[in-house]
Amino acid sequence: MTPLHNDRLLRAIAGEPVDATPVWMMRQAGRYLPEYRRVREQAGSFMALCQDDSLACDVTLQPLERFDLDAAILFSDILTIPDAMDLGLHFVTGEGPRFRKTVTTAEDVAALPNLDAERDLGYVMKAVSTIRRELNGRVPLIGFAGSPWTLATYMVEGGSSKDFRHLKGMVYSQPELAHAMLDKLAQSVTAYLNAQIRAGAQAVQIFDTWGGALSAEAYQQFSLKYMKQIVDGLIREHDGRKVPVILFTKNGGQWLEDIASAGSDAVGLDWSTELSAARARVGHRVALQGNLDPNVLFARPAAIRAEVARILESYGEGPGHVFNLGHGISQFTDPDRVTAFMEALHDLSPAYHRSIPHG
Ligand code: CP3
Repeated sequence: MTPLHNDRLLRAIAGEPVDATPVWMMRQAGRYLPEYRRVREQAGSFMALCQDDSLACDVTLQPLERFDLDAAILFSDILTIPDAMDLGLHFVTGEGPRFRKTVTTAEDVAALPNLDAERDLGYVMKAVSTIRRELNGRVPLIGFAGSPWTLATYMVEGGSSKDFRHLKGMVYSQPELAHAMLDKLAQSVTAYLNAQIRAGAQAVQIFDTWGGALSAEAYQQFSLKYMKQIVDGLIREHDGRKVPVILFTKNGGQWLEDIASAGSDAVGLDWSTELSAARARVGHRVALQGNLDPNVLFARPAAIRAEVARILESYGEGPGHVFNLGHGISQFTDPDRVTAFMEALHDLSPAYHRSIPHG
């Protein structure tokens, strides 16, 4: 087992005592950091940055240099999988990701290749091992992938969407075709995350950014079912340590009990769910991650501190809480506000861990 100097994240997820609440931020490496923008420029494009393991490693570590974070997250994107499926991913400035080919017919779904993660996404595994080497046990490295449902929204719509009308049209008129696509994606995501774990990812998160746009019934059948399939197929122990799995469905708080029963170790929540209520609903079944509204970081430091205090108090005493934002940090955030957030958390969180001795 390679030594890990800061294991707060892994301990908190396992429900073990910690001295302070661990914290990381979704999209912690990104455009709000001037040092990221410099490296991004040097790389030429976002995908070129993802594909260069040395530059991807540099930007992964940038937020850790600035802030007292308890985890690193692999710098990459959920869209690496559809990119490897040859759908022609490109990024249009100001409009986000776009695909040249969309997946709309039975022929399109049949033509989707079964990915060999090590071969087709080798650059990601190379980035994972480079980052692990450079981290040298400082904090754990989180790997990630998109949920099948969320990936399908981009592949069927051809890019970002507000209503998902093509994919939802498929769900309601040709459910078997949607299932065939989601099943294929679940297999690719499982292989992809297992390859990340073998390459050195010490925890993994599945981002289900758009699951919350489904009806309660359709969420079960078209999103949660496939995340469960992935969780069932993941390597859960590697290099002598448990590899926790975190499920994050944006706007999924209403289905918390079902998500908590899908087999993961932790569930990520956005700000629309109160942590005190969430904790009462799941008990000790899973750890909870979240849930500061990223827009709180547009407020003054005193307001940021008050909101951090409120969230800590809402979760209450003891382990099982991983502090995070309720969604990715905005590119317009002033990094000094993040410093204020971290300072508040580091001042206030130890008080919630005093009643239990730190073993
Ligand atoms: O958390 C981290 O620091 C790791 C990096 C990370 C990125 N994307 C980097 C990125 C992670 C975890 C993601 C996941 C991701 N990508 C999701 C799910 C997470 C969520 O927010 O719910 C989604 C939906 C995507 C798809 C995607 N990639 C979008 C919508 C965009 C924005 C496009 C734009 O131009 O606004 C991206 C690009 C992207 N991914 C950027 C970064 C830092 C910005 C691109 C750039 O630097 O030019």
